[in-house]
Amino acid sequence: MRVDDLYSQRTKYFRTSEIRELLELSQRPDVISFAGGLPSPHAFPVEEIKEIVERVLSNDYATALQYGPTPGLKIFRETITEYVKNFGINADIDDVFITVGSQQALDIVGRVFIDAGDVIFVSLPTYLGAINAFYAYGANMVGVPLDEEGMRVDILEEKIKELKKKGEKLKLIYTVPTFQNPAGVELSEERRKHLLEIAAEHDLLIVEDEPYSMLRFEGEPIPSIKSMDKEGRVIYMGTFSKIMSPGFRLAYVVAEKSVARKMVVAKQSMDLCAPTFTQVIAKYYVENGYLTRRVEKIIEMYRKKRDIMLDAMDEYFPQECKWTKPRGGMFLWVELPEHINTVEMVQDAVKEKVAYVHGRAFHVDGGGTNAMRLNFTNPDDDVIEEGIKRLAKVIKTRM
Ligand SMILES: Cc1ncc(COP(=O)(O)O)c(C=O)c1O
Repeated sequence: MRVDDLYSQRTKYFRTSEIRELLELSQRPDVISFAGGLPSPHAFPVEEIKEIVERVLSNDYATALQYGPTPGLKIFRETITEYVKNFGINADIDDVFITVGSQQALDIVGRVFIDAGDVIFVSLPTYLGAINAFYAYGANMVGVPLDEEGMRVDILEEKIKELKKKGEKLKLIYTVPTFQNPAGVELSEERRKHLLEIAAEHDLLIVEDEPYSMLRFEGEPIPSIKSMDKEGRVIYMGTFSKIMSPGFRLAYVVAEKSVARKMVVAKQSMDLCAPTFTQVIAKYYVENGYLTRRVEKIIEMYRKKRDIMLDAMDEYFPQECKWTKPRGGMFLWVELPEHINTVEMVQDAVKEKVAYVHGRAFHVDGGGTNAMRLNFTNPDDDVIEEGIKRLAKVIKTRM
């Protein structure tokens, strides 16, 4: 059968993750991997989930094992409505719906808002999963550099004006304001405000993707962009992947009612509803204080890992390298001298039994070829220093 002739036009935009092979290699047992974006398995609330599951199966099985409404179970959306007050968000229950991971929420944004050729602004670097989701709808992604305070909003403004003049269709700005994946940086409060002003001036949406905001090791929380949004311009997403379990595939969106309704219609044909079982479990997890206690433990665990990694980098990495010092989250970002190509260097690293993700994977402009992302949360404490030592050797050899 010549199936190639039968694929839809849309499939020409599909991209497999360019790092999939790399991630497979990095999972070899002898490789110390800083490549994946995974939480530590020691961070999972195993005992808490056992306890809650027992309770749910005894008391709530009729709901937890049944189909649910597409926006999510009302009892769980109520929980989320309360929970997002932690981020200064005053939502109505009709502004909230539940998704199968925030990855699905990103895909729904694509379905609902992106026509082929529409301009989406993202930072350089940005989350790879968002690049792939938006690209699948034919988005024209325009990169905006970032620094220690997140996206350079001044440059964003220039780019918006330039593209508007050319008559491009501008749709939205995608941002991961807190402990960004991959760079680990935080968008400052001033820039958050400015971003919202710019979006208002040019009538753009903001997609605020916040998987890491609870994982703060130090410093004061910065208000979410959604908390400053008076016009319903911000689509906010949060997830249980990094504070409970990514295996639950449970996330939520807060958006202005009419936007939420449109997004829910798009979701209906995807999966009818998010799993009810995990929604009921997560409801107990949040409401009975398990989440707060667990997050405290995760923060302690991850802060220690970050410190081990930063100390080892200070000791072993060549002076010519620069890296971010994240105040939370799961990643840090390294820049090597310009002439070092981190895409080619991956092979050397795998030979030395250490893995990272090259910076190009997170760039929509082909840049980042002298950069890399390191994950500090998944490797065990006692292998981080050895992994950094190996990586330093690989870099020095290239230099
Ligand atoms: C910025 C960002 N958005 C979304 C996701 C997807 O998360 P989920 O597991 O909720 O689909 C991730 C996962 O790493 C992420 O880093």
